[in-house]
Amino acid sequence: MTREGLYIQLFSIHGLIRGDNPELGRDADTGGQVQYVLELARHLGRQPGVKQVDLVTRLIDDKSVSSDYARPVEELGKKSRIVRIRCGGRKYIRKEKLWPSLDEMVDKTLKFIKREGWIPDIFHGHYPDGGYVAKELAAGFNAPFVFTGHSLGRNKKAKLLHEGMGEEEINRHYRMDTRIAVEEEIIAFADQIITSTNQEIEDQYGLYDNYRKGSYTVIPPGIDVETFFPYYNYELDPEEMSDEARQTRVALLHELHRFWNNPDKPFILALSRPDQRKNISGLIAAYGGDKELQALANLAVFAGIRLDIEQMEENERQVLTNMLLKMDYYDLYGRLAIPKKHDFATEVPELYRLCAASRGVFVNPALVEPFGITLIEASCCGLPIVATNDGGPRDIVGNCKNGILVDAGNPDEIAAALKKILIEPETWDQYSNNGIKGVHRYYSWQAHCEATLEEFGKLFPGKKFSSEQPVESGEQIPFGQRLTGVERLLITDIDNTLLGDRASLEKLIELLDRHSSSLAWGVATGRSLELTMEVITEHDIPNPDILICSVGATIYYGPDLRVDKGWQQHISYQWHPDRIKEVLGDLPFLEFQPAEGQHHFKISFLMDNKSGHIEKVEKRLREARLNCEIIYSHGRFLDILPHRASKGKAIKYLQYKWNIPVNHVMVAGDSGNDEDMLRSGPCALVVGNHSEELSHLEGRRKIYFSKREYAAGIIDGLRHYGFL
Ligand code: GLC
Ligand code: MG
Repeated sequence: MTREGLYIQLFSIHGLIRGDNPELGRDADTGGQVQYVLELARHLGRQPGVKQVDLVTRLIDDKSVSSDYARPVEELGKKSRIVRIRCGGRKYIRKEKLWPSLDEMVDKTLKFIKREGWIPDIFHGHYPDGGYVAKELAAGFNAPFVFTGHSLGRNKKAKLLHEGMGEEEINRHYRMDTRIAVEEEIIAFADQIITSTNQEIEDQYGLYDNYRKGSYTVIPPGIDVETFFPYYNYELDPEEMSDEARQTRVALLHELHRFWNNPDKPFILALSRPDQRKNISGLIAAYGGDKELQALANLAVFAGIRLDIEQMEENERQVLTNMLLKMDYYDLYGRLAIPKKHDFATEVPELYRLCAASRGVFVNPALVEPFGITLIEASCCGLPIVATNDGGPRDIVGNCKNGILVDAGNPDEIAAALKKILIEPETWDQYSNNGIKGVHRYYSWQAHCEATLEEFGKLFPGKKFSSEQPVESGEQIPFGQRLTGVERLLITDIDNTLLGDRASLEKLIELLDRHSSSLAWGVATGRSLELTMEVITEHDIPNPDILICSVGATIYYGPDLRVDKGWQQHISYQWHPDRIKEVLGDLPFLEFQPAEGQHHFKISFLMDNKSGHIEKVEKRLREARLNCEIIYSHGRFLDILPHRASKGKAIKYLQYKWNIPVNHVMVAGDSGNDEDMLRSGPCALVVGNHSEELSHLEGRRKIYFSKREYAAGIIDGLRHYGFL
């Protein structure tokens, strides 16, 4: 079967995600982002250029939450579904506690992909946890990695510090250092970063060391314009109102009228999670401090779903308690409604329309608002808005001219803006109409998806999306597809292992070709990529599936030699090449190898085999606190590598990443720079012509010393371990 179009995987790991009636506002992890990714998945799935969208999230099998979150797959539409992957145990835990489990998520998603037999064209991570998982997978498949932050750690940290929280507590509670470090990596690595606003790029990404390495594009979030249709549709055609909408209205009015003495006045509406940052108390102060405003309109504050304030988390409890105290302080009984429960998905659009029909105003008093999706929804229903002069609202009001921006820290300004709109009917009409028109133009999911697909398309110059198309003979299979398909892997050194005897090499090549559907193979060599390709061409060896070059400093995948970016990222940790050269530079017995022996992640020397030399090198590096891998081979080559790199470590990384069991990988070598990979797994092979420096390994279990030389030794090993 051939499926044209993009296969997109979205990653949104934390919170509670379900397609049917999502519990938005239930806790700090289940808010705007959950709604955003659900809509994105649904709407992308409706685009003609897309063949499949998976929204990958965590599988939660916990009695304290609905069993809906334990379903491995949930359909969202014909071409979109939620895929739930188990990681970090069964319990529902807050996002800050998920960091240690993300590698498990990567691993299990890889398994899922392997099982489905179908590789995504694009990995799109949301929030740094989803970003991390998408980044790792994209590196594995060498596919594009796209990132949407939703919020970033550096800003949050600055805010928390400002609020008086200590650095240590911030790290303990929010795992802030981990988050920021991951965000730095993501920014440097992402092929495209999607932001909701312009301000987000400068004010948020701008705080990162890797800011300039990032590639950014603004695509404002979309909303479902069919759900958030204008309030006046009912006035134009009363038939428009469904029974369900009618019931919702009655329920809402019933709820609101319990609080208000004069229910016929317009009302001011605020809607948010109970979070300090949403500045609900600032709004109540603005309203409570202005008698004229109270005379003009009632106020309704919907602050999430609350069951029992006493059992809530600290932040939420404080916000709600504060709200009740302020209500009492300003004596707002009869004017302020603080309904206890609201069912976001079905009631909210009706609530906006009800408010618009009363000729009310929607207000978002948050001090910082990077996003502001409720402002867009409210506008789409025809509500004028008052919002903080910050990121999201600035773009929204700039695009739509649908309301007034205020300094949300200043209650008088909030009150003045509300009054202006309530008092001037022309202003109200203008903002209302502009909002409806502007949202359709700038903020519908259709507009969002079109812009997103255009960006995605740029990441595949000239590619046709048909990863399921049968591979025509002569055509090379993309490495990701190949490596998820094979069962076993052979990794062999080149010089004096693969090469040395022409006749047995030809036999080996023929064997590898015959078993290619189950056995992939690669080389692991001290040579640079250039020198490796030179020798491969010279000896007429077919392109390997994997090339581990420069003693494990780099990994490439055939046939088009794509570099494994994830590996480079991984080994760059604590690597200071300039310092190393400085520290070792004046040792008289060291001679730098020529340029072709050097690589950013490999510093190589020639060095005599005299006793004490290696120890001196080790001592120098240790004293300078430079933690690296030191490899000596053939009695003359000295390679200094990052301490996370070596042939053996590169192989371990490949096993992990491609989910190949250790006993399905055979390694073959002949000399000292092969030692760590020979020791790393259960199926090691040393050729008969090996150099003296490996003799001490003889007699070890799991290391088979063949009597045969060169490629004949490899063939002997493949038979010995039952790989053929
Ligand atoms: C290859 C490389 C050289 C390295 C040696 C040992 O000969 O070209 O740079 O030092 O292998 O790993
Ligand atoms: Mg060798």
